[in-house]
Amino acid sequence: TIGDYDPCWLRYERIEDEALAEQYRKWCGNLTVLGSSPILESARDELTAGISSLLGVAPALSRDLRDFPSLVLTASAEGRGWVDRRVWEGLDEEGYLLKTVERGGDAFLLLLGKTDRGALYGAFHLLRLMQTRRPLHSLEIVENPGNRLRMINHWDNLDGSVERGYAGKSLFFRKGRIVRRLDRIRDYARLLASAGINAISINNVNVGPDECRLITGSLLPDVARLADVFRAYGIRMFLSVNFASPMWIGGLSTADPLDPEVRRWWRERAEEIYRHIPDFGGFVVKADSEHQPGPLTYNRDHAEGANMLAEALRPHGGLVVWRCFVYNFQDWRDRSTDRARAAYDHFKPLDGRFVDNVVLQVKNGPMDFQVREPVSPLFGAMERTNQMLELQITQEYTGQQKDLCFLVPQWKEVLDFDTHAAGKGSTVKAIVGGKVFPCRHSGMAGVSNVGDDRNWTGHTLAQANLYGFGRLAWNPDLSAEEIAEEWVRLTFGHDSRVVETLRDMLLESWRVYELYTAPLGVGWMVKPGHHYGPDVDGYEYSYWGTYHYADHRGIGVDRTMKTGTGFTGQYFSPNRERFESLETCPDELLLFFHHVPYTHRLKSGETVIQHIYNTHFEGVERVEDFIRRWTRLKGKIDAERYEHVLSKLREQLENAREWRDVINAYFFRKSGIPDEKGRKIY
Ligand code: GCU
Repeated sequence: TIGDYDPCWLRYERIEDEALAEQYRKWCGNLTVLGSSPILESARDELTAGISSLLGVAPALSRDLRDFPSLVLTASAEGRGWVDRRVWEGLDEEGYLLKTVERGGDAFLLLLGKTDRGALYGAFHLLRLMQTRRPLHSLEIVENPGNRLRMINHWDNLDGSVERGYAGKSLFFRKGRIVRRLDRIRDYARLLASAGINAISINNVNVGPDECRLITGSLLPDVARLADVFRAYGIRMFLSVNFASPMWIGGLSTADPLDPEVRRWWRERAEEIYRHIPDFGGFVVKADSEHQPGPLTYNRDHAEGANMLAEALRPHGGLVVWRCFVYNFQDWRDRSTDRARAAYDHFKPLDGRFVDNVVLQVKNGPMDFQVREPVSPLFGAMERTNQMLELQITQEYTGQQKDLCFLVPQWKEVLDFDTHAAGKGSTVKAIVGGKVFPCRHSGMAGVSNVGDDRNWTGHTLAQANLYGFGRLAWNPDLSAEEIAEEWVRLTFGHDSRVVETLRDMLLESWRVYELYTAPLGVGWMVKPGHHYGPDVDGYEYSYWGTYHYADHRGIGVDRTMKTGTGFTGQYFSPNRERFESLETCPDELLLFFHHVPYTHRLKSGETVIQHIYNTHFEGVERVEDFIRRWTRLKGKIDAERYEHVLSKLREQLENAREWRDVINAYFFRKSGIPDEKGRKIY
C-alpha cells in the first residue's frame, strides 16, 4: 500500500528475472530530462520512482546529453531533431513516441512527447511495458489518443457523501469544505493520468445550494488547490453548476438565459473562476432533468441555456458539457409516452444551434445505465453538434461494487456499435472520436467509482473498471481481453494461474450479472431508491417511465413504429428495421423493443419463460463457480486481497440467489408455466 491505501495498478513490484532487469537497466539506468515544466517533472518523478521500484536502483539523473544518456525524456525542439519530420507531424498534442535510437555508437531510448503532456503519457507507457515484462530493445511506438476529452465525472457532494458511491466518502470534500491534505489526491491524479484521463469534474451533477458556492470566492481558493494537483498530471478541472445559481447565490430574481443581468452574472463568475484557475476546463450541466432547474422554466430551449453559459466561458477557453439525460416524468397508465425516446426528441431538433464550445454528453443507452440497453439513437443523429459519450463506471445498476461486474465488454459493444449515421462504419467510437462529423470537442466521460476506501473502489476488482475506462478512452480499439489481462498483471502479478483465472472471471462477469438479474434487455426490476437487489414491480406503477408491462400472457415494451411507441424509428437504417422486426431483433434486447408472450421462441430455441428460468439458475451456478475458481488462488495472492474478494463473492452469491428466486417465482406465478426441468421455484 501507498500510505494507508492500495497502489492499484501502480505497484511496480521488483522484477525478479535478473536477466530482464539487466536489460531494462541498460535502457533506463540513466535518465536525461531535456526541458522543464511541472508536467515534465511529474513524468520524471514517475519514471524515477517506478524504475527504482521495478529495478531496485534509481536511475542516475542528468540534464545534459553528454552524460551518455540511456533514457531521454523530452518534449523539446532538440528531441524533435532526432526523429523523422513525418513522425513528429503525425503526433497529436498529447501524442508521444517511444523509440530506441542508435547515435554515434550510443544506443538510447527516446521518450518524446509532442507536448509535456504527451511525454507524461509516454512515461506511463514505458513503465507499463516494464510492469508487463515486455522487451525494450527495438521499440518504435507512436501513440495518439483516440479521444480528445477523456473525463471523469464525480458525483461527490460537499458534505462528503457520494451520490451512487459504493467506496466510502468523497476524496475531495468533508463537512462542507475541501479536504486539507492533498497527498491522496495527488496519488489519485497519478492513477488517472497513468490510465490516460485528462479532465475531471469534482462535484455532483445534482448541485445543491452548498455546492453552488464552489464557484464563489468562498471556495474557489480551495478548488484552485485541487486544480494545481491535477494540472501537474495533465488533468483539467471542471465543476458541475446549477442553472439557477444566479438566483440561489447571486440574489437575482430569475435565471432566464436571455436576461442581460443573468448573462452578466455568469460572465463575472467566469472571470473570477479564471482568476483562480487559469486553465479551468468549464462547466458540466444537468438542466431540466430530475428536478434540476434549466432553461425550459423560462420557455427557452436547451441551446439557449447552454449557449449562454458557453458565451461566459468562451473568452477564457472553457467548455460547457451539457448533459442530454432529460426526460419527463410520466403517468404509468399512459402507454404512449416513452422515456427511451426523450433524449432524442428533446435534442435532435436543436442540431446546429449549439455554439462550438458546447459539447452534448449522451449516456450510452436511452434509459439509464442498465445492465443491457441498446445504444442511444442520439449518437450520430446530430451531425452539426459536438457530442461525447457518458458511461457509468460506478456500478449503480450493475452490482454496486458488491457484485463483480467488469464493464469493459459492455463499453466495447457500445463503442463498436455501428450507428450508420453516415453510412457503414459510423461507429460510436468513430463519432465520439470526432472522425465521422467534424466537431471541435468530443470524447468520453465516465461517472467515477472511487471513494476514500483503502482500496478506492469498494470491491478491489472494481479498480479494473476505472483502469479500463481510462484505457478505452485513450484507445477505444483495445480489446476487453487485452485490458483485462493488462490490469491483472499490473495489479496481481504474473503467476499464470492468477492471470488466467482473474482475466476470465472479469471477462465473464458482466454476462453473469445479466444472467441473474433483469432478463432480455427489459431492465430495471430493482429496489426503488438505492437500486440494489430485485423488486420486479418496484418501479412498475411509478412516474419514472421504467416499465416492463408483465401480465399473465407476456412481457416487454412495444417500442416499434408499427404498434408501439415508435422509438425504433429514431435509429438509422438498417438498425431501425433490425430492432423493429421480431425476426431480426437480437435476443438480448428483445424485451426492450417488443412485448411478447412467454411462449415466444427466441433465436436460441428456448421460450422466453424457459430462458428466464434457465438464465437465473445458471447465473447462480456461475457465481458458485467464481468462488471455486477464486479459492484455488489461495496462497498466490496476498491474504488481505484474497479474503476481501472472497467475502465479496459470497455477498454476490446471496444477491444472485435472491434475484434468481424472486424473478423465477414472479414469472412462474404470473405465467403459470412450470420450469421444464422441474427445478425449485418458490
Ligand atoms: C441516475 C442516478 C441519479 C443521477 C442520474 C443522473 O438516474 O440514479 O442518482 O443523478 O442518473 O445521471 O443525473
